[in-house]
Amino acid sequence: MLARTTLGFLGAGAMAEALIRGVLAAGLVAPDRIWVTNRSHRERLESLARRFGVRTTPRKAEVVAAADLLVVACKPKDVPELLAEVGGCTRPGQVLLSVAAGVPTRRFLDGVTPGVQVVRAMPNTSCLVRESATAICGAPGTGPEALALARELLGAVGRVVEVPEDLMDAVTGLSGSGPAYVYLMVEAMEQAGVQVGLDSRVARELAVQTVLGAARMLVETGADPALLRQQVTSPGGTTMAGLQVLREMGFAEALVRAVARAAERSRELGALVAAPQAMGG
Ligand SMILES: NC(=O)c1ccc[n+]([C@@H]2O[C@H](COP(=O)([O-])OP(=O)(O)OC[C@H]3O[C@@H](n4cnc5c(N)ncnc54)[C@H](OP(=O)(O)O)[C@@H]3O)[C@@H](O)[C@H]2O)c1
Repeated sequence: MLARTTLGFLGAGAMAEALIRGVLAAGLVAPDRIWVTNRSHRERLESLARRFGVRTTPRKAEVVAAADLLVVACKPKDVPELLAEVGGCTRPGQVLLSVAAGVPTRRFLDGVTPGVQVVRAMPNTSCLVRESATAICGAPGTGPEALALARELLGAVGRVVEVPEDLMDAVTGLSGSGPAYVYLMVEAMEQAGVQVGLDSRVARELAVQTVLGAARMLVETGADPALLRQQVTSPGGTTMAGLQVLREMGFAEALVRAVARAAERSRELGALVAAPQAMGG
């Protein structure tokens, strides 16, 4: 479906580049069907055009006119300005996919032409290596075809699940902030390796590969993590001894609380973003 779609990126930063790179690498869209614009950095547009063969223009209305699927890839704080500039040029049947963290679909519906199909997405930073864990939700009135289009586009940079919009804060707490929890664990594993005598470079290499290997086991076997854990834990063995310490120190409970707090923080920030005056809109 994406192959017959013209994409228009409103915003040309890291996220836009990751998505452009992903769809081109997957061969989903020809580069000349991708339009990109931004606020003011002309060299950035030139660089994207040179490296990917996409069409770039400083004229946002041109991008909106050309595109069937508009991707809002600016920061949440810039959404009101963007909507004020181009919302009126949108047309019924167009799909608007926002990756702006925390901005509710209502905010877009209020700023575009009636009949525009709005989809909101929460990817994570691993989309830069095409391994994002992304959740999407449709605005009220958004049809399955628009969601399928969004799923296809975001599927080029990782896995996509669909959730109701009121669970987007939960997604933010879990997979949006999740890469940082894993990075912290790897930092701690590296420090631990050094404490038990390893060189820090070796400790990091082992820690990173351990996380990658465990993640691949989970993906490729589809097995329950608890089962995989039990399978590598022999009674009285080393893993059991290590896990016992993690249990005593409240490792799992700490993660549960971290996700809950991040989800709560997402709700708090969302309340600010949802208020038009707080966003300058
Ligand atoms: N990076 C991630 O891994 C990640 C993960 C999840 C969600 N997100 C979301 O993705 C969005 C983009 O993040 P990013 O990291 O790509 O940001 P970024 O690198 O700062 O890029 C933002 C882009 O938006 C453009 N922009 C700002 N105001 C605009 C306007 N009025 N009209 C047109 N373009 C405008 C900027 O143009 P100029 O450079 O010309 O100002 C820039 O190209 C954010 O909302 C963020 O919440 C990002």
